[in-house]
Amino acid sequence: MKYPKTQYAKTILEQDRVSSPFLIKYAAVATGKTGKPYMNIILTDKTGDVEARVFDNVPKFHSQAVKDTFVQVEGNAQGFNSRIQIHIKDMTVLREDEVVLDEYLSPTILSAEKLYAELTAIVLSMKDPFYKALMESIFIDDAEIAKRFKKAPAAKAMHHAYPVGLLEHVVSICKILDFLSHNYSPYADRDLLLVGGMMHDLGKIWELQYEKTTDYTNEGRMIGHLVMGSELIEKKIQWLESQPGRLPSAFPEEKKLLAKHMVLAHHGKYEYGSPKEPVCLEAQIVHMIDDLDSKVNAIRTFVEQDAQVGMWTLLNKNFGRYFYKPEWARK
Ligand SMILES: [Fe+2]
Ligand SMILES: [Fe+2]
Repeated sequence: MKYPKTQYAKTILEQDRVSSPFLIKYAAVATGKTGKPYMNIILTDKTGDVEARVFDNVPKFHSQAVKDTFVQVEGNAQGFNSRIQIHIKDMTVLREDEVVLDEYLSPTILSAEKLYAELTAIVLSMKDPFYKALMESIFIDDAEIAKRFKKAPAAKAMHHAYPVGLLEHVVSICKILDFLSHNYSPYADRDLLLVGGMMHDLGKIWELQYEKTTDYTNEGRMIGHLVMGSELIEKKIQWLESQPGRLPSAFPEEKKLLAKHMVLAHHGKYEYGSPKEPVCLEAQIVHMIDDLDSKVNAIRTFVEQDAQVGMWTLLNKNFGRYFYKPEWARK
């Protein structure tokens, strides 16, 4: 049985009786002026956060009210320093399958989780045991990579320059590559194409810092995401070879070179920062689809954000063109 969400953090008013599930974002015990312990809690859902306090039965609720737990809250809302504060009278811990997850996560987090699930499904659909093990070690076993990948923009400006933009770009490319692998079968190797799609920009999760504003890191300025991606492949292959049973045999040298080449050649030309130009069909395809997906996004977001009234945008300096604004984009 699911506990229905009946009240939302941002719409609770002073004097409201509160009876609804929430996600705990923060919980800590503090001591009041009289020496009596109380709990400071921040409850959250898809609309935002709301403060809460527990004044009675603190020892009982202390063990239940833990960060990232879902709880059914019973209490009432009071005004405090011009903010709303829920005084919790009772609280029951709920299991994750007892709530509708979409009600608690912000749209950005939700889209990151959905996209990451799509990405891991693509990894699991791979056939080649070496490429598959390599992608699993990176996208499924490495929690730090997953955490960064779920937040990173794809660029400082130009295309997909917003949170989760990198993941959106990569999943979009992988779907196109999956289609092309069938279209150009048997000449284009689906697994190698997907290695290229998933890995080509992965170095960007360290190339850019994006906690508050986006900028290049020292590693980004001095090494760059192509070489960083290639180094990661080397490191993960070494790690896989040290783990008994993860690979059918030593990682074949040719496959290692091809995987690295997919990353090192994806900018296509020396003048675009590629240390190598594509020398296999798959690398050429990944380069062209990367270019396609970034341009589609760049034009779409430019047209969408353009403030001009009427059917033409301002001059786009990167493309050197004025773009036509379809009906949906007109002010
Ligand atoms: Fe790139
Ligand atoms: Fe890219």
